[in-house]
Amino acid sequence: MNKFFSLSLILFILTITINCTAQQKQIMSKDTKKTIEEKVDSLLNIMTLEEKIGQMNQYNGFWDVTGPSPKSGNEAKKYEDIKKGLVGSMLTVRGVDQVRSVQKIAVEDTRLGIPLIIGFDVIHGYKTLSPIPLAEAASWDLEAIEKSASVAASEAAASGINWTFGPNVDVSRDPRWGRVMEGAGEDPFLGSKITTARVKGFQGDDLSQVNTIAACAKHFAGYGFSEAGKEYNTVSIDRSTLYNVVLPPFKAAVDADVKTLMNSFNELDGIPATGNKFLQRDILKDKWGFNGFVISDWASIKEMISWGHAKDLNQAAELAVEAGCDMDMESYAYVDELAKLVKKGKVDEKLIDDAARRILTVKYELGLFDDPYKYCNEALEKAVIGSDENRAAVLDMAKKSIVLLKNENQLLPLPKEGKKITVIGGLANDDNSILGSWRIASDDHSGVSILEGLQKYTGNQLTFKKGADVTVGKTAFTEELTINTTDTSEIKDAVLAAKDADIVVMVLGEHGFQTGEARSRTELDLPGVQQELLEAVYEVNKNIVLVLTNGRPLTINWASENIPAIVEAWQLGTETGNAVAQVLYGDYNPSGKLPMTFPRNIGQIPIYYNHKQTGRPVNADNNVFWSHYSDVASTPLYPFGYGLSYTTFEYSNLNVSKTNFNVEDTIEVTFNLKNTGNYAGKEVAQLYIRDLFASVTRPVKELKGFELVSLNAGETKKITLKLTKEELGFYDNNGDFVIEPGDFKLFVGGSSETSLETEITLN
Ligand code: BGC
Repeated sequence: MNKFFSLSLILFILTITINCTAQQKQIMSKDTKKTIEEKVDSLLNIMTLEEKIGQMNQYNGFWDVTGPSPKSGNEAKKYEDIKKGLVGSMLTVRGVDQVRSVQKIAVEDTRLGIPLIIGFDVIHGYKTLSPIPLAEAASWDLEAIEKSASVAASEAAASGINWTFGPNVDVSRDPRWGRVMEGAGEDPFLGSKITTARVKGFQGDDLSQVNTIAACAKHFAGYGFSEAGKEYNTVSIDRSTLYNVVLPPFKAAVDADVKTLMNSFNELDGIPATGNKFLQRDILKDKWGFNGFVISDWASIKEMISWGHAKDLNQAAELAVEAGCDMDMESYAYVDELAKLVKKGKVDEKLIDDAARRILTVKYELGLFDDPYKYCNEALEKAVIGSDENRAAVLDMAKKSIVLLKNENQLLPLPKEGKKITVIGGLANDDNSILGSWRIASDDHSGVSILEGLQKYTGNQLTFKKGADVTVGKTAFTEELTINTTDTSEIKDAVLAAKDADIVVMVLGEHGFQTGEARSRTELDLPGVQQELLEAVYEVNKNIVLVLTNGRPLTINWASENIPAIVEAWQLGTETGNAVAQVLYGDYNPSGKLPMTFPRNIGQIPIYYNHKQTGRPVNADNNVFWSHYSDVASTPLYPFGYGLSYTTFEYSNLNVSKTNFNVEDTIEVTFNLKNTGNYAGKEVAQLYIRDLFASVTRPVKELKGFELVSLNAGETKKITLKLTKEELGFYDNNGDFVIEPGDFKLFVGGSSETSLETEITLN
């Protein structure tokens, strides 16, 4: 090559580079005249195939990103890939310092400088923790739930994060499945309302604000129906259940403009969800018109090989992208295989363009192109995370999430002075378990324990005895955690301390890490020797208030029969102890209602309120041939929607605006709700329907409306709930929403075991 030629070549390359940078700058600039769509199109035009695929690739956080760059192994590959523009997103990197470091590589070292979107599992708070999502669902308080998500978003965003892998909207009927703690329970209607609230809370009105983050409805779809509640298991559900129970919360998320969805680990109809075109393309993108992007679950593209659906990573990548999975979390399938597939003509480049377009659009909407470091502000990070305001918000949410299951002889609320109270249970002085599962960013042991909360009320004489631990494990990732302790050596001491107490508060339940991902259980009673402890204390003192702290419905028959007062306190996050103490002492009157049925025993599972009638629903002739168990009642221990208050409520005067309706009419259902007790309180008034005859059989009851009503002692309010075709219709087996004329029953009451009913006819 002669000198002149080399010089021209260098000049040529320089010109291209300069042009590219200029072009890129123009694209990245705050060119207000251009729409996001136009900006994305211009950017896609200058991207190579590899760069577009890079946007579809997500890596987990790896080396100490603020330290020296890694030189070998997987970490080096990840680092190099970011530098080459082959990474579109990172997960689990957190904190302004770390986020800025990785963002800097993407923005300053790559050809196009496209910012990363930083994802994180913000499931129930970031550092300041709210109750676990199932507990929040028990509040039925949509405003509070939205607020809780917005607090979580503001803390995460202040820490450099711009995308949460939440909300988990998986409907589940199986408390053996550990991930029920992450969802909103068993009901699609309540679940959909809560989904909307959570998506709004995370995303706010304007995604480009520094205190909002993109949400991700997961896991699409059917994961909550893992067979026998066993984690990562197969799922076998009928189309009617899919359309009417599983999908509605996802649809609600899409209607609320959720920016992303995550697919799931399970298969559906024998096809892993990650490679399931029917779910991701036919329903989500085509039928619902979803224009955000779908991310795989962790390595779920690769796992299609284990499922026996793909023969290798190459085929797995092909199946996933064809099926509509836009981003690959930690499978290395897209980054390593997709370009080859496109070049061989096996995958149409249009699919890559579509996926990259979706991802880039969300990045633009977040404002990352305007300022890739906009979420990286140390001063904000310091001011927002753990602020007094956030602690107050999670305390408020925690109180609202508590469910009073039993209160015989008005044992609760506790007198504030003059009593000898013994507090018993390993979970009583635990400041870690009560934080619940899924709290990666929060500090261990940063919760207010229940004992600590109770100790703030100094009028009584308080004694604490552990009595028993729950498990032997210590951390989230060891199997040890599921090993329950067998150590009974401290029971005696606890019994002794209980003997001459006026009241015994027993704090029992599950360890926070006994629920969550990979925490399925086949026994749902009190783990370890806690039942033994409870019965031993009961022998000497029957004045027991049982405070349950757990992440799923438990089978507590004995307690339910014998213990006079039971409070379901779940795992309430950072402010657990203060919330429980305020409820026990009556400074807050509980109003929570169960979002999931409590079974009598494991054999009843799945047990849920919105079951079908069956052909033999009643024992008319007193024979045995009807749908029931011969060894246990068919009813649950505590039904869906159930929860008491320190006051009492009475429902009366159920009326409908007219009994014959047309499809377009709005039906006004009115009734009186009276506070008949001595305390001001709140009640979740619930409206259920039953479509008596339909082309596809309908459940015996379906929740279709509710209102959280505040009433002073003695006060009565007339409540109006509305029904439209939205509530009266259902999905047929083709997934089409239909409204069939006919007779409906309406039920109203304070739980799914309602007290009032009437009938209407839809013409
Ligand atoms: C879980 C997801 C989670 C992801 C990233 C997976 O194991 O199933 O829900 O978002 O990990 O942490």
